[in-house]
Amino acid sequence: AYNYMFQNALPIPAVAVPDFTEEFGGRTVQFYTCAIESFTKQIYPNLGPAHMTGYNGTSPGPTYVIPRGTESIIRYLNNGEVSAAVHLHGSYTYSVWDGWASDEMAVGQWKDCYYPNSETARSIWYHDHADGHTASDAYYGQAGVYLITDSAEDALGLPAGAYDVPLALTDHSYQANGDLASPNGNPINFFGDVLSVNGQPWPYMSVEPRKYRFRVFDMSLSRAYDLFFADPSGNWITFQVIASDSGLFGSPVTSNDLVIAMGERYEVVIDFSMYAGKNITLGNNMQQAQIQELANTNKVMQFNVGSTVSDNSNNGAVPSTLNGNIQWPAQRTTVDHTFNFQMGGESTWTINGVDFSDVNNRILARPTQGSVQLWELHHTGGPAVRPVHVHLVNMQVVSRTGGSRGVLPYEAAGLKDVVLLEPGETVRVLAFFGPANGVYMFHCHNLVHEDNTMMDAFNVTYLQE
Ligand code: C2O
Repeated sequence: AYNYMFQNALPIPAVAVPDFTEEFGGRTVQFYTCAIESFTKQIYPNLGPAHMTGYNGTSPGPTYVIPRGTESIIRYLNNGEVSAAVHLHGSYTYSVWDGWASDEMAVGQWKDCYYPNSETARSIWYHDHADGHTASDAYYGQAGVYLITDSAEDALGLPAGAYDVPLALTDHSYQANGDLASPNGNPINFFGDVLSVNGQPWPYMSVEPRKYRFRVFDMSLSRAYDLFFADPSGNWITFQVIASDSGLFGSPVTSNDLVIAMGERYEVVIDFSMYAGKNITLGNNMQQAQIQELANTNKVMQFNVGSTVSDNSNNGAVPSTLNGNIQWPAQRTTVDHTFNFQMGGESTWTINGVDFSDVNNRILARPTQGSVQLWELHHTGGPAVRPVHVHLVNMQVVSRTGGSRGVLPYEAAGLKDVVLLEPGETVRVLAFFGPANGVYMFHCHNLVHEDNTMMDAFNVTYLQE
């Protein structure tokens, strides 16, 4: 455990700076270097440091902020201790640069990855995807935030600058010497007893009595959260959910809690104006029986609300129309594929009995580029939540049956690239297979399950016109 609850300020990861920018016939391309490096970080003030490996020697890594349509090429240098593959989760990346799990850079190698950044504004993220050790690589620090901005979003007047803050959630465990405890060893799940935001256990953030936009990322291995903001009397404060994995909702969704699972992103706007001089707690109320709640995993961070507002811009009401142009997939009721996310044995998981090492059989779907398919995802039982992530695509969550809940309002309000499957549930998603073609992965984003091969592939096939 960590005994410095709400005593350290929330760190904000530095914004990545391109090495140079080139114009090519009207196209703007930014070139970055991102080195996987080991480093130490003092987590416990009175104990030894924690050994970590992260992007440019930080964790979370630098935050990329890239205007839509500005292309990027990132040179990843693997100066770490093990092989690595970097995946930009939520990006329209061509498959050769998508971080295919066995397309690993050995230590000492590098790879240039090209990203078109053609998506509408959204909060995506990058993390390791190496075959069989994604979980430990992410745990020791290989994860970061990547934001795509656009003028339509800028025009909405949402809280910006210092009032637009990423909150990347992780959980860890520590040894008595202050170093990280390995997440390996439990083949089913990893649940740390120390929750961190942007790499700092249980931080506080000094805020002003005004509106803030928080971009929440669940970068944990196995832990899903049910987040709430509580006032000093313990009452939950209502907020507006404005965006999820694939960007802005059509309209904001009012809620007083937010279920977020591994790989998912949600963005909220909360108004602290009523709470000047008070402390607001971001708490976690996850009730799912298989999520191990430990002594302090019901608390995430604290917001210390000051008494004055230094900048009142972008502090108005959230517009009732955020995005009038969501590209919902064409509707279809015929199920194209049924995928069982199932346990295959003591420590293996599969999709339909096929694991990722089965190279001759692991392509489970061949949608035509530009088509829409309806996929039915089954959690066939066994412990732990299984958030399903499909690379490349945006999905509409159509239905959820078999458990105690349906589709949550904020799951239905926008497009997603991860959908949470709890034990026994069946979820249907409609996905548009594009814009690129090629072979991509889909998998359980419980990274322990992913490493234990609950991952397969689909081939978006190219049709010559
Ligand atoms: Cu967030 Cu296949 O990954």
